[in-house]
Amino acid sequence: MKHKDLIARMTLEEKASLLSGKDFWHMQNIAKHDIPSLTLTDGPHGVRMQEEGETQFKGKPATCFPTASALASSWDAQLLEQVGQALGQECRSLGVHVLLGPGANLKRSPLCGRNFEYFSEDPVLSGELAAAHIRGVQRQGVGASLKHFAANNQEHRRMTVSAEVDERTLREMYLASFERAVKQGQPWTVMCAYNRINGTYCSEHKWLLTDVLRTEWGFDGIVVSDWGAVNDRVSGVEAGLDLEMPGGPGTQDDEIVRAVREGRLDETLLDKAVDRLLTLVERAYQAEPAVPFDTEAHHALARKVASECMVLLKNEGNILPIQEGAQVAIIGAFAKEPRYQGGGSSHVTPTRLDVPYDECAKHLGNHVCYADGYRLDTDEADDKLIADAVQLAKTADVAVVFAGLPERYESEGYDRQHLSLPPAHNRLIAAIAAAQPKTVVVLTNGAPVEMPWVNQVPAIIEAYLAGQAFGGAIADVLTGRVNPSGKLAETFPVKLEHTPAHPFFPGEGDISEYREGIFVGYRYYDAKAIEPLFPFGHGLSYTSFAYTDVDVSGERIRDDEPLEVRIRVTNTGPRPGKEVVQLYVGDDVASVIRPRKELKAFAKVELQPGEEKTVTLVLDKRAFAFWDLQCSQWRVESGTFTLSIGSSSRDIRLTKQVQVESTSPRPPVHVHANATIGDLLTDPQTGPVLRGILQEAMQSSPLGGMAEHDPELFEAFIRYTPLSRTATLGGIPRQSIQQVIERLRQAQEG
Ligand code: BGC
Repeated sequence: MKHKDLIARMTLEEKASLLSGKDFWHMQNIAKHDIPSLTLTDGPHGVRMQEEGETQFKGKPATCFPTASALASSWDAQLLEQVGQALGQECRSLGVHVLLGPGANLKRSPLCGRNFEYFSEDPVLSGELAAAHIRGVQRQGVGASLKHFAANNQEHRRMTVSAEVDERTLREMYLASFERAVKQGQPWTVMCAYNRINGTYCSEHKWLLTDVLRTEWGFDGIVVSDWGAVNDRVSGVEAGLDLEMPGGPGTQDDEIVRAVREGRLDETLLDKAVDRLLTLVERAYQAEPAVPFDTEAHHALARKVASECMVLLKNEGNILPIQEGAQVAIIGAFAKEPRYQGGGSSHVTPTRLDVPYDECAKHLGNHVCYADGYRLDTDEADDKLIADAVQLAKTADVAVVFAGLPERYESEGYDRQHLSLPPAHNRLIAAIAAAQPKTVVVLTNGAPVEMPWVNQVPAIIEAYLAGQAFGGAIADVLTGRVNPSGKLAETFPVKLEHTPAHPFFPGEGDISEYREGIFVGYRYYDAKAIEPLFPFGHGLSYTSFAYTDVDVSGERIRDDEPLEVRIRVTNTGPRPGKEVVQLYVGDDVASVIRPRKELKAFAKVELQPGEEKTVTLVLDKRAFAFWDLQCSQWRVESGTFTLSIGSSSRDIRLTKQVQVESTSPRPPVHVHANATIGDLLTDPQTGPVLRGILQEAMQSSPLGGMAEHDPELFEAFIRYTPLSRTATLGGIPRQSIQQVIERLRQAQEG
């Protein structure tokens, strides 16, 4: 223990007091022992430092960056690090020691009200980006808090619901996102979620907080509760929950003291938690002195980042970028009062706000005009506003409609009920598209929406919730000053009924069964051959890219050797641009149910017109492995794997097959009377022995001829017969079964 002497000097009450906050945003301090307090605050895409005497939701001005669903569309870890670094600087200048974010929960259903705060439906993408965000923040000497650990995939009944998830799904999907973020980002703190997993509250889940997080993944920071997530404090200490937040009247330090006194809680567990908390305090006080942050520079960064995140979903006839001199009708109240962040604890007071209409007007000069199109305070369409907007669109060369989800549609605290835009927005878009063939729709929403008008409009930009510089960034993309390079980090379904968790989301009462298992996001759409509205990984550019060659460091490898995959990409269009190269892996033949392909590596590459680059991606054992429940470990099965390289999950440009040899032995088959002949024959130890026994036993049976003349057919025929029942086919006599079992077990023992 690092702080053994100090801890020995502390009373039981003092130690217990450190395990909860002093108030809503501060950890406890103990002047007598020179232990200072730390300040924690939200997070994740801006610093929400509460003003003295203000309500929780009114913070000091800070840069509002795009929210996670937008950031993820950049597929750019370096950019996320830059954002993290800027957030870290702002934390320091505002006196914050720990920023509550990022969130690495996977998007199980697009209905989750908090999806705007999460990165992706894919654990590799989500984990990589969360790790980059953490590295950036922590480089400034500020801690990050990776949240909400784990399986917090809905807001509905979030404080009581139990996510009922099988272990393989947890390991391969929901935990994998956190695992990557923990291992590659090394966060100072992890925030446990409100919900339960398979019946146990995350705040008292020892397997989750200690066995997996600390022992398996090597996490060395503190676990903090989500605000109000503690159910039973003593069980929490036992499970590995260090800090209860918020502090104040509801905390349960006295429970800890009583449990230790009554011998129900081992005091060394309390000491370990105190030790970890003291380490956090030390880490936080090593930071350089704070300097005010440069609001202009951070705003400029927010603009650059926002433009890198926007996804060009559609651009028929290359109507974008808008040509110089074109008359542009800007339509939609969101163009003047933009929606740029989500509701709830992540709400930031921005340092300033770019208005899309003003920014477009700056770029397009006096060639812009404007109509409201809809009202912000109602979902219902207003015929007069639509008619005025249609009139305006007709007079212009291009119409740009700003539409999306109002804040009341998606927020922390509740989920959406459907995937529709407000009727007013849908009606407006359809009406404008009917009047103006060059209609561009700019969407602002934190998560996918249905687009009943998708075939009527030639161009669509998904801008997500792009932060305070949304206005400038969208002007940059519309006019071509920035060539869009975002790709969807989640699938956009045609309709809600197509989504993987439908109709099991959000569950029955306090039970939410993850019946779709590992088939989250594109894994599901691939398995069911469902055409999405826009697939995972999709995003267009104003230029084009060719994928010409794929080359691997070895066509036959062992699973413990890294595999380098080199892909040649060329910019074949007229403009500089960036492409996200995506590498998916699929096991051609597997003994367990596996997705057809899974994202395992990606890279964003910038290319000038005509330029060609070789992109190198590296795959390790994990890229080929599945979580083997039988031996509780990641295991690769020897065989052929297909590498699919593409510009989206549904735009695969190159494929390559590699042979991978497993270094983890197949777990031996369990030999018992009802083990099937097929399983016993495929086991390398028991197979040859059983084959011999069967040949002999079958000689006098009615199947003997088949066994002799066509052994393959014979084996296929009896594959699913349990050992004990071969007797009915005239095979191994019942009285000999036990003896055969013994022989097979001996064969396994070698
Ligand atoms: C949210 C967390 C947040 C915390 C503090 C909770 O309600 O779930 O994400 O960090 O409040 O505001």
